[in-house]
Amino acid sequence: MIVGETALEQLESLIPEDTSQIALVTQKGIEAPINTRIASTTHFIPDGEEAKSLSVVEELCSNFAREGLTRRDLVVGVGGGVVTDVAGFAAAIYHRGIRVIHIPTTLLGQIDAAIGGKTGVNLDEGKNLVGAFWQPSAVICDTNLLSSLPPREFRSGMGELAKYHFLGGEQLDALPLDERIAACVQIKADVVAADEREGAGRALLNYGHTLAHALEIEGKFDLRHGEAVAIGIEYASLVAYQLGRIDESRLAEHQRVLEVYGLPRHLPEGCDVDRIIELFSRDKKAINGLTFVLDGPDGLEVVANVPEKVLREALTRM
Ligand code: GLY
Repeated sequence: MIVGETALEQLESLIPEDTSQIALVTQKGIEAPINTRIASTTHFIPDGEEAKSLSVVEELCSNFAREGLTRRDLVVGVGGGVVTDVAGFAAAIYHRGIRVIHIPTTLLGQIDAAIGGKTGVNLDEGKNLVGAFWQPSAVICDTNLLSSLPPREFRSGMGELAKYHFLGGEQLDALPLDERIAACVQIKADVVAADEREGAGRALLNYGHTLAHALEIEGKFDLRHGEAVAIGIEYASLVAYQLGRIDESRLAEHQRVLEVYGLPRHLPEGCDVDRIIELFSRDKKAINGLTFVLDGPDGLEVVANVPEKVLREALTRM
């Protein structure tokens, strides 16, 4: 993993010597100054979540086959989480797996989506239902690329960044941006190294995501993913507080972190509490009753059978 203001300059040196072809996978409008001499072919996938589909992956793999890509060759994914998820999945299954380098161009991609080898696409039945764990040969997080992000996109990335404060990164906000990103990448890499396939520890990376996913599934709120995660972190802290797992100072620390990054902390207007509770029960983690990642005396933990009454009360306090 390379993180820094000019990290992209190191791309050439990271290409394995035996590579004869490089397939660049990106989207129109992504401005990452990749030296085009490096790419043998460039594949543009569509914008938005619709690009995360099996048909887009099939088309990419067909193109790789027509161009004669072999297991010695390399896919380079340049873009946000959609691109790295799709490029990574195509690389994972083409010829049963070829090498991939990710160059995330969003803050969310640099601190989360491109790190840790989760790749995949959506089905009509739900998000990320088909995928593979496929570790990239390298991830290049060039922090200069973030200067052209729209402010709201950048802030959304801060929602994912906020969770690392509760995963051992207490003083992250005191660091300059590139050191902060490098610290998040290190925390995530350590979590993934200990539990690549989400047996236990990796699930903690979903802090704040249970409410976030419910709000996203509702689909009627104008919320970016990181904004929904920020609201979910505030909510998880209230639930932990009501369960007596954390004290007032820890509750206040959650509020401080979310405010430092200018993130939303309250439920959007028009939220239906009954519907949110129903969506909690559909969460993938809800195998033993309603299950949340919650803070506590020993840090974050997956907690099963959280009483519905507590969840309702916390929602009404938001
Ligand atoms: N984004 C959560 C994970 O990679 O496990």
